[in-house]
Amino acid sequence: MESSRPIYLILCATYVLLIGGNWSISVPNIKLPCLYGVPHKNLLDNQTVSPKPAWIILGSRHVIHEQGIKFIFKDSPVNPLPFLKEGLNDVKCDITPYFTANTQILWPGVNTENVLDTWYTYTVRQDAGKFHAVTIFAKLSEMAQKKEEDTHHALATLMVITKTPNIYVKLMGSALLDCAFTVDHRADVSVTWSYRGGGSPEVKILSYNGITKKLHNNWKDAHMWIEQLRNGNASLLVTNLSLKSEGLFTCAISVASLLIEEEIHLKVRGVCFCFS
Ligand SMILES: *[C@@H]1O[C@H](CO)[C@@H](O)[C@H](O)[C@H]1NC(C)=O
Ligand SMILES: *[C@@H]1O[C@H](CO)[C@@H](O)[C@H](O)[C@H]1NC(C)=O
Ligand SMILES: *[C@@H]1O[C@H](CO)[C@@H](O)[C@H](O)[C@H]1NC(C)=O
Repeated sequence: MESSRPIYLILCATYVLLIGGNWSISVPNIKLPCLYGVPHKNLLDNQTVSPKPAWIILGSRHVIHEQGIKFIFKDSPVNPLPFLKEGLNDVKCDITPYFTANTQILWPGVNTENVLDTWYTYTVRQDAGKFHAVTIFAKLSEMAQKKEEDTHHALATLMVITKTPNIYVKLMGSALLDCAFTVDHRADVSVTWSYRGGGSPEVKILSYNGITKKLHNNWKDAHMWIEQLRNGNASLLVTNLSLKSEGLFTCAISVASLLIEEEIHLKVRGVCFCFS
């Protein structure tokens, strides 16, 4: 098996690098292709403006040659790498500005002098519905670095991910609606779960206030584990599901006026009284 030798050597060299260097070297480099912006009409010439190619670059240690806007992320516990390890082929990524309604958000490590141009989100979704993740990040001020056009340094601050963006359950069954969050520092995290179904207005299922540590639960058939919040686990167990429970469940995570909402579509499979 002569031909397998070069591959073996490369693996071997990588391994030595991993154990020989410091831990940050073990972060794999990921260049996630994204689209920046939402399609809109330019008011001056009435032309449709399409989203532009952009890149989310995680754990990068070298020069990047890609065309487009590049956001190079500082190492942070907030990153979707564990969910991207199966590859980037079937994931879609969109970057949009995050509107803060002109409020200044105080966040450790983020210089918020430029209120209008600091906060962004990127959304990563897997085509087959294995996960949906939203990350809020801050563009870091570029004075320290040599300024390159279209290249920005960024800090990921808050991420919320669900591994159950679509969930199917049996009538009278139960479902664990997955909602996990990561913050880049210890913070008071508030959680609200709400529900909308059958054209009726949204109702609040429960809310947990991270500052007062108080939980209000309006649904007897819903349960969230408060002690799991310190692990970033805000999943909700809903039981005794009826056809009326079909609809959209929203997990809203907020920290210091940053807010991310993840939606979970729940479908109840009724009993089929069909004879053939
Ligand atoms: C812009 O486009 C819309 C339709 O796409 C058209 O109705 C409108 O008249 C156009 N306005 C100008 C200023 O060209
Ligand atoms: C969240 O906590 C619940 C209750 O302990 C558990 O069943 C579930 O597996 C946890 N989710 C994750 C992603 O760890
Ligand atoms: C389940 O829901 C039905 C109505 O939707 C109710 O009559 C029943 O008491 C509930 N069962 C439990 C165990 O809560």
